[in-house]
Amino acid sequence: MYQDLQNRVAVITGAGSGIGRATAQLLSQEDCQLVLNDVNADQVEATRSELQAPDRAVTLVGDIGNPATADQLAALAIEHFGALHIWVNNAARSLFGPLASCSNEEWDTVFQVTLNGAFYGVRSALQAMVRNPGPAAGAIVNIASGAALAGEEGLGAYGAAKAGLVNLTRTTAVENARAGIRCNVILPGPIATPPMLAAAAQSPEGVEGWAAQTVPGRLGQPEEIARAIVFLVSEQASYINGALLCVDGGVSARTNSPRFN
Ligand SMILES: NC(=O)c1ccc[n+]([C@@H]2O[C@H](COP(=O)([O-])OP(=O)(O)OC[C@H]3O[C@@H](n4cnc5c(N)ncnc54)[C@H](O)[C@@H]3O)[C@@H](O)[C@H]2O)c1
Repeated sequence: MYQDLQNRVAVITGAGSGIGRATAQLLSQEDCQLVLNDVNADQVEATRSELQAPDRAVTLVGDIGNPATADQLAALAIEHFGALHIWVNNAARSLFGPLASCSNEEWDTVFQVTLNGAFYGVRSALQAMVRNPGPAAGAIVNIASGAALAGEEGLGAYGAAKAGLVNLTRTTAVENARAGIRCNVILPGPIATPPMLAAAAQSPEGVEGWAAQTVPGRLGQPEEIARAIVFLVSEQASYINGALLCVDGGVSARTNSPRFN
């Protein structure tokens, strides 16, 4: 347990599935109060109803790519729970296809949710968090991807948007450190969530064959990202600000050279 997280108020975007849902579960176990966002009403309500403390969570259905949604989330946190301390920018949109045939509309669709939505979240979070007293006014975690740091065929718009999220994180961190607000970014590797499992299932050897080819020999679990998020928003991470944390089982540590044996 992270004692300092008790009663902290957290917004999580994309909380209806995968990493967002796992983060909601862990923060609920830490006795946080939650504002859960997703575009999918049934899924986000399922996340809420299965929490350790469903009565300490509210939901807001909306597209985080719409600038009004982030403001509504911050307002709901303050109206319902009296403050806002934690914001997890987790929702994203990816489209698969080569850059040579990526339309303007496809590019914009990916950026609107993945980067613009995170910016709207950061802005709304900062405006609410500066009102908090004390040295630990707030903590923001952005969820990027290993695709932010290296090219991945077919994920050009997504990778570029995630790379933008890295700089959004760093600028947010340096502009707001003296206000007691920290901002860090996690770069997950392949995690066993519905979109990842669906994509891996289409590979020639299916999910198991795909997992066996990863560096750790398996996919990560959503909880393994959520545990890193919980640590970063806690006071155990009080001097960690503007950091990039790869939670990928070592994927980013390996070169792509041919093997010697
Ligand atoms: N799973 C992986 O292997 C992996 C790897 C690297 C990065 N990530 C990142 O982790 C984050 C979570 O991914 P996941 O794998 O848990 O996906 P997921 O599909 O399981 O969950 C994402 C949730 O976001 C919601 N969502 C989508 N668009 C939204 C929008 N415009 N507004 C609000 N909610 C929206 C979806 O309805 C869904 O419930 C994403 O930012 C993703 O890019 C995932």
